[in-house]
Amino acid sequence: MITFDEQQQVFHLKNKDISYIFSVEEGNLLSHLYFGPAIRHYHGERRYPRVDRGFSGNLPQSLDRTYSKDDLLQEYSGNNTGDYRVPAIVIRAANGSRLTDFRYESYKIVDGKPKLAGLPASYVKDDDEAQTLEVTLVDKTLDVQVILSYTLYKDRPVITRNARLVNTSDQEVHIEKIASMQLDLTKHDYDVVSMPGQYALERQPERQALRRGITEFSSRRNSSSHHMNPFVALVDKDTDEFQGNAMGVLLVYSGNHQFTLEKDQIDQIRLLTGINEYDFDWAVKPGDDFQTPEAIIGFSQHGLNGMSQVFHHLLRERVARGKYQYADRPIVINNWEATFFDFDDEKLDEIVKEAKPLGIEMFVLDDGWFGHRNDDNSSLGDWFVNTNKLTGGLERVAKQTHDGGMKFGLWFEPEMISVDSELYKQHPDYALHEPGRGMTLSRNQLVLDFSRKEVVDNIFNQMCKILDNVPIDYIKWDFNRNLTEVFSATAGADHQGEVSHRYILGLYDLMERLVTRYPNILFEGCSGGGGRFDAGILYYMPQSWPSDDTDAVERLKIQYGTSLVYPVSSMTAHVSVSPNQQTGRSTSFKMRGDVAMSGVFGYELDLADLSDEDREMVKEQIKFYKAHRQLIQYGDFIRLESPFDSNTVAWEFVSPDKSEALLFMFKQLHTNRFEINNTKMANLDPTKDYHDEMTGQTYGGDELMNLGLFRDPTHTGDFLSEVHYFKAN
Ligand code: DGJ
Repeated sequence: MITFDEQQQVFHLKNKDISYIFSVEEGNLLSHLYFGPAIRHYHGERRYPRVDRGFSGNLPQSLDRTYSKDDLLQEYSGNNTGDYRVPAIVIRAANGSRLTDFRYESYKIVDGKPKLAGLPASYVKDDDEAQTLEVTLVDKTLDVQVILSYTLYKDRPVITRNARLVNTSDQEVHIEKIASMQLDLTKHDYDVVSMPGQYALERQPERQALRRGITEFSSRRNSSSHHMNPFVALVDKDTDEFQGNAMGVLLVYSGNHQFTLEKDQIDQIRLLTGINEYDFDWAVKPGDDFQTPEAIIGFSQHGLNGMSQVFHHLLRERVARGKYQYADRPIVINNWEATFFDFDDEKLDEIVKEAKPLGIEMFVLDDGWFGHRNDDNSSLGDWFVNTNKLTGGLERVAKQTHDGGMKFGLWFEPEMISVDSELYKQHPDYALHEPGRGMTLSRNQLVLDFSRKEVVDNIFNQMCKILDNVPIDYIKWDFNRNLTEVFSATAGADHQGEVSHRYILGLYDLMERLVTRYPNILFEGCSGGGGRFDAGILYYMPQSWPSDDTDAVERLKIQYGTSLVYPVSSMTAHVSVSPNQQTGRSTSFKMRGDVAMSGVFGYELDLADLSDEDREMVKEQIKFYKAHRQLIQYGDFIRLESPFDSNTVAWEFVSPDKSEALLFMFKQLHTNRFEINNTKMANLDPTKDYHDEMTGQTYGGDELMNLGLFRDPTHTGDFLSEVHYFKAN
């Protein structure tokens, strides 16, 4: 799959879908040649066009004015040494220089995919699945190496990249910036798709023309964030959901990230991604190394849906791990929106008693069970039970839940500390802060300094004490603020720029220890809703809470947007009360159920308050969901009609063999235009007939895909939903 043509000095990474080609140019500079649909054999014709471009300098000691780093498409650009575009790497040397210039030295091709020390990454099940090219570059002045890794999967249009710096010199160097990957592309009129958002309205994709200059999408919150998910796609102008080229880049990282796109003087495009250079300064001692997070490039010629499929499959099959990777995810009742902090044994027993006969499979006890927590002012960091509320301890609640035939789940927020806590009394220095400077509170809480091993150990030990003694089947891992005053009491003056990344390494270390020690626990990520919905977390936790906004209409957009990259098996969705607590909007129980059933399903309301009619509907929804759970959680999810562009919204789930499909159709607002809408399905078998088990009708796959399913425009009312289950004859 990966070859090096000695004569032409060309690397070609190729599988049946894609090719990635670059060469070793004069001066041992790596020159990018191509990334896109597979090329059987690269002829070697297109090389860097030699031209004297004014104000673009030439290589040191060279009299050749036609060769410049400033317009050469490169694989990993240096700083302040002739390429004026955004650099991939900036290193501060002992003499204060920040110049970098890495040149090719050697390469190695290995079967499989080496692990990334301390970091989440995609993996292989056996070495036949992928090949990895490791290219060593050297900056001879610094005497430092960078090893660029490229892994090509055999059967996926996916290349993963990372960079590792090795300090081979005898002096300490400081990394001020180090990209995981650089991708330089020839002139092309791209649109860029990003995933901005905010609290309670996460991942709302935006598409814009890529123009001259620098465009950046990033997070400085020490979290992948509600505000900008670590993903961008470059798409052709005519790319839509079903056709056209789409190239997505996803960073497998949960902290400060940075995607930089630069369109240069001749409209060439540079895409860089990695840890954000903001406040980053990492000292590397002689002989030490630094590993960047992984970036995943996924490509499709079949539009955004095609690209999403590439990421859905990879994230589900080769990033998520553990017992629940493909397992049926249990249907949950969570007490948060039902009780908030106001619960006791009796209330919890009532929830459990109500839930089981409805078919619910797991009870999750949310925030408020520990320390002396009755509101969000206290007790984070004190992971022992609040016996004022739970007189029989967690053991009793767990037993009650298990005796009722359900699983038991528990909420934690391991990275946080309240000033009003035992932990803070004992260890005020455990909170991130700079002595003498005020501490920014957010949700009345502070953040633990996870760059310190003893802090991580303290939380690990506290959690183990609970998990070793109480039979817990699931953990919801929350993270309800972003970091400020990122300063560590123990790091020392020269290492404060390392704290933000060390925090993330501490977080991953804690997660790894817990998932290893408790392989039977299902972990769910959460960050005040979907503030850390990223591939790094997915490596430890196969599902996450996408948003605190449980309003069904808002969720159409959030789940639709999230699906651009993340699979349905990673997205939890709960039915909550109407009017909705976040938006005040009223929607029918059916609509709320249909939206939530399009994810990993559950309920988050007071079951005791349900009307008889709604209770019956819950039973039906659960029965339906259980019958189709595998199809929903692990089938192909295809977006059909977007809530961003149209009043009608639709998506579908299709089984891999196309023998069954589930179609969900929604209407946002009614309009008296009574326009006729046909919802066209996709990815069915045109030669098969599909029986609609809801209506008894039979349609050809070709008919459903081309003519579509008629939506009755006389059906009045806002926020309507309709579900069709099709089985091929
Ligand atoms: C934010 C989460 O997103 C909610 O679901 C809930 O767990 C609260 N935190 C609890 O504090």
